[in-house]
Amino acid sequence: MADEIQKLPPTGERVSRRTMLAAAMLAPGLVAAATGGANAQSGRANDKVALVTGSSRGIGAAIAKRLARDGFRVTVNCVVNRDLAAAVVREIEAADGTAIWEQADVSDPVAVRRLFDANDRAFGGIDVVVNNAGVMRLAPFRDMTDEDFARQLDVNVKGGFYVLREAARRVRDGGRIVSTSSGITELRTATYGPYAATKASLQIFSSVLAKELGGRMISVNAVAPGVVATPLFLDVPGRTQQEVNMFAQRTPHRRIGATDDIASVVSTLVGPDGGWVNGQTVHANGGLV
Ligand SMILES: NC(=O)c1ccc[n+]([C@@H]2O[C@H](COP(=O)([O-])OP(=O)(O)OC[C@H]3O[C@@H](n4cnc5c(N)ncnc54)[C@H](OP(=O)(O)O)[C@@H]3O)[C@@H](O)[C@H]2O)c1
Repeated sequence: MADEIQKLPPTGERVSRRTMLAAAMLAPGLVAAATGGANAQSGRANDKVALVTGSSRGIGAAIAKRLARDGFRVTVNCVVNRDLAAAVVREIEAADGTAIWEQADVSDPVAVRRLFDANDRAFGGIDVVVNNAGVMRLAPFRDMTDEDFARQLDVNVKGGFYVLREAARRVRDGGRIVSTSSGITELRTATYGPYAATKASLQIFSSVLAKELGGRMISVNAVAPGVVATPLFLDVPGRTQQEVNMFAQRTPHRRIGATDDIASVVSTLVGPDGGWVNGQTVHANGGLV
């Protein structure tokens, strides 16, 4: 430990070095985090790698582009819309970022391993996983079909688990794992029952995984967006402008969320200042209740 402390850059103040030593003894790993843990370089450049599931459009695409701007090399993922995934990569590259894309259905554990393998081949490892892919099917209980119920379980719960399992196996020490849950877990609006239940699983997975990865300075959290203007929300069959306005009016900021609102929160959680948030669900909803 003392040797590690000696390797720290000189602070110019003996008292600071003594304080660091005391901190290291009280909380192993704290000094590393405070002086250069996860992504602790200043400014844009870092050599870290981030994989974002479901990043061909919507919230995931905004997160992928934001993390690329933050300096991450990024793996983009889609299930159907390969052209959109390729366009996200092109946009990142046009802004001098580095990205690849890989098609993989997160509800298939073999495909999830293939996705992580593709990332590792391209970038040599992984520091950040954003477990974002999800689907939503709305109906009252009496009308929910077996197929729609099963798809939500397959993608949101099983897929969420497969991605987190792979993240637990591969994310390097000091890394970050974030899952996109949903504020509907609190709102519990009619017709959202199965969807809300599947998104709640990500909050529970995250807090348990944070404990399992203890000692490695890997922070694991869920982000719970409110209503965000994406196809998932706007293209719900029968969605009306009136409903959109209603959600905006219920939000103190008087608008529904934009994808960048969520990308900013994820950027903070996986960036140099986010590491102490661990095992939490961060509600990012403009105050929607
Ligand atoms: N929008 C909201 O109001 C809102 C609110 C709270 C939480 N969320 C959550 O935020 C996340 C992103 O939602 P969004 O609004 O951005 O949705 P979106 O616009 O529909 O985008 C969904 C993304 O997930 C991908 N995806 C879907 N199924 C997949 C699968 N089986 N395997 C891999 N990728 C898959 C889609 O890929 P393709 O393009 O190839 O289909 C797309 O990239 C979801 O987990 C959602 O539950 C959204």
